[in-house]
Amino acid sequence: MSDWTHRHVLDLAAFSLADYATVLELAQRFRAMPTSGARKLPALQGRLVTTLFFEPSTRTRSSFELAARRLSADVVSFTPGSSSLSKGESLLDTVRTYVAMGAELLVVRHRATAVPQQLAEALDAAGEQVAVLNGGDGLHSHPSQGLLDLFTLARHFAPETPTPAALQGKRIVIVGDVLHSRVARSNLWALTACGAEVVLCGPPTLLPEAFAGFVAAPPPGQAADPVAQRGAVRVERSLDAALQGADAVMTLRLQQERMHQNLLSSLDGYHQRYGLSHARLARCGKPVPVLHPGPVNRGVEMTGALLDDPALSLVEEQVRNGIPLRMALLYLLVAGSAQSSLKPSSSSP
Ligand code: CP
Repeated sequence: MSDWTHRHVLDLAAFSLADYATVLELAQRFRAMPTSGARKLPALQGRLVTTLFFEPSTRTRSSFELAARRLSADVVSFTPGSSSLSKGESLLDTVRTYVAMGAELLVVRHRATAVPQQLAEALDAAGEQVAVLNGGDGLHSHPSQGLLDLFTLARHFAPETPTPAALQGKRIVIVGDVLHSRVARSNLWALTACGAEVVLCGPPTLLPEAFAGFVAAPPPGQAADPVAQRGAVRVERSLDAALQGADAVMTLRLQQERMHQNLLSSLDGYHQRYGLSHARLARCGKPVPVLHPGPVNRGVEMTGALLDDPALSLVEEQVRNGIPLRMALLYLLVAGSAQSSLKPSSSSP
């Protein structure tokens, strides 16, 4: 297990192969541990985690809060609508209020790109010791989702040893609204780092050709790519062609709330061309799993029958894996070392 060097988790572009290995190994350990009742882990006892979600969430917020509680942390949940933001308090002053109350980790979701990063920079400049974890910002990044997707795929391909090597040489199709998807962007960094080939599929309005070069250079502000060699990325317009030889298929939610222009002629037409069904999936030539970060538009990105098929759908497994994966991130950022004791305590609450 490598030394952990990240003070914040803002974007998977900054992750090395060793970072992915550390997170997956810890997540696998947490997944195997009993974490309820008297067997709750005491690792973050007395530490305060605050979730600040300025955009709606079901999975991410709840699983971060559950993950924190399973590590015995205290959790404060900020709700913008009933906060003093409505009285004119700034976002940074709001965040500093929670830091003054003792928060050691802030999970931040915001509809604007780079808000978690800007908060992290402002808090670092002020000398605060708090860590910031990006819970999803604009179209930019959703690192914990990218990591839980990676964990889910690694467990599918290598249930006993879900390491980054489990993805080496696998062909993963990502189909749908790539343009508006921070999940797709995080998955591109994670999957290619582990040596997977990624085939992106969608109409030109939702998948510009430039995405083929998305991981070719580090993002602005990052000096170098920490990964020496990444898997390839290609763009395919035909879903049937994209599915040939695929080892797994991830479909993305149509993010109509982020579409400011008419980018689709009809939802029905979209489903016909890019929706997943049992019949469509048969084009892979073998049974392959389907993933979706949720929330799902049933009958648009995939049929309800496929979503509910436990033999092929990993969607609920993604949700289950989100808790141990987020426990791993909280543990690394708050406890600061992957080497500390993780023994359950019968005396913990
Ligand atoms: N996948 C995801 O981010 O879901 P929520 O919006 O429900 O958190």
